[in-house]
Amino acid sequence: MYSEKVMDHFTNPRNVGEIEDANGIGQVGNAKCGDIMKMYLKIEDNIVVDAKFKTFGCGAAVATSSMATELVIGKTVEEAMKVTNKAVAEALDGLPPQKMHCSNLAEEAIAAALEDYRRKNGEAPNEAIDCTGCCCGCGHSHGFEEDSEEE
Ligand code: FES
Repeated sequence: MYSEKVMDHFTNPRNVGEIEDANGIGQVGNAKCGDIMKMYLKIEDNIVVDAKFKTFGCGAAVATSSMATELVIGKTVEEAMKVTNKAVAEALDGLPPQKMHCSNLAEEAIAAALEDYRRKNGEAPNEAIDCTGCCCGCGHSHGFEEDSEEE
């Protein structure tokens, strides 16, 4: 059911924890299914120099957040904003269709942390994460499926 990479990132997740001096923090999730994700970003000179996460969630949520942190470290804020749930899933060699929504949680957590960073820097908030209602039926309050499917 799961690729070796998903199993690897689930059993040995990278970048778990908190960044004490994070300057971008985002928490997303929905108590309905019990999955909550908190993302910490350390951004210096517009580059994501560190990323850590904490997740109370399913295995796919752990694996996707682990991979998402690896994908954004070293990227500019603008590049990190373009890391989609699809890119995260592809980097994991795919997710079962019924688990694709779990990758949205990682994408949304990154987006929320980047928005927090931009807000602290006086930049306009990212309207894209101001979404309500889950488009995949999992009960989360994310709304990135449409954006991701366009690619
Ligand atoms: Fe995996 Fe909701 S069941 S994130």
